[in-house]
Amino acid sequence: MRHLMNPLDFSAEELDRLFETARDIEVNMPKYAHACEGKKLATCFYEPSTRTRLSFEAAMLNLGGNVLGFSDAASSSATKGESVADTIRIISCYADICAMRHPKEGAPMVAASVSGIPVINAGDGGHQHPTQTLTDLMTIRTLKGRLNQLTIGLCGDLKFGRTVHSLINALVRYDDVRFIFISPEELRVPDYITEMLKDKNIPYEEVMQLEEIMPRLDILYMTRVQKERFFNEEDYVRLKDFYILDKAKMNLAPKDMLVLHPLPRVNEISVDVDDDPRAVYFKQAQYGVYVRMALILTLLGITVDS
Ligand code: CP
Repeated sequence: MRHLMNPLDFSAEELDRLFETARDIEVNMPKYAHACEGKKLATCFYEPSTRTRLSFEAAMLNLGGNVLGFSDAASSSATKGESVADTIRIISCYADICAMRHPKEGAPMVAASVSGIPVINAGDGGHQHPTQTLTDLMTIRTLKGRLNQLTIGLCGDLKFGRTVHSLINALVRYDDVRFIFISPEELRVPDYITEMLKDKNIPYEEVMQLEEIMPRLDILYMTRVQKERFFNEEDYVRLKDFYILDKAKMNLAPKDMLVLHPLPRVNEISVDVDDDPRAVYFKQAQYGVYVRMALILTLLGITVDS
């Protein structure tokens, strides 16, 4: 039985196969309509979500399966003191696969260690968000045509943004990838990530100004400042609008640069940018359904004949 805790749990070759399946799903959706008949997905979300939970549920419904779960820790027996380990033991009696989001780093890993069914980390604190990474990689691979030879700017809250940490982890496996980290001093990418990049001889720069590096980017990955992970409101208010991507900044970017954002967006991308063909964050959310369908099939060991 396999789980997905970290994007590196899958080899680059396995990810390629997953993306090929996701592409086939996009083009031949009806072929997959009964693939998970009789199977159930449990979504156990101890933290708020729109995209991840609903795209998992849409993915299982598209596959002909069913869904159950909770979207708020307050409506689960966690409020009575039940542990994550006991909860997943119970969920294993009710469902075939589980997607879990939790505010505590490592909680889905604890669940996986005792689970009777595959567990997917749907985001654990400020740590990892592997299915967002699969979505991001599929978006880049599909719309840019490659995952190598890329200069990727990551902008905003690089300290608390788990999608950023997961994406960097996954991208370092591809050739000729270079990172530009754009953040205020307080929200710099954690040292463990820059140490890892140094160890692997992967080029990176850290800058504070977005404008100056726009002309060099293949991909701009915008992120919101993670209000829920700040210890005080004053710091959040001071930093929340540090970067706002607008039309004037987009005019500095190459014509084929792509703007991704895991969403939700707050103020960091002006709505004026939404009509720019380089703004692909809504398309990215759609790819999230295909890639989660492919992931469910892979973890359940289900193949669909062509
Ligand atoms: N991208 C993402 O994780 O969005 P949600 O928090 O809405 O699931």
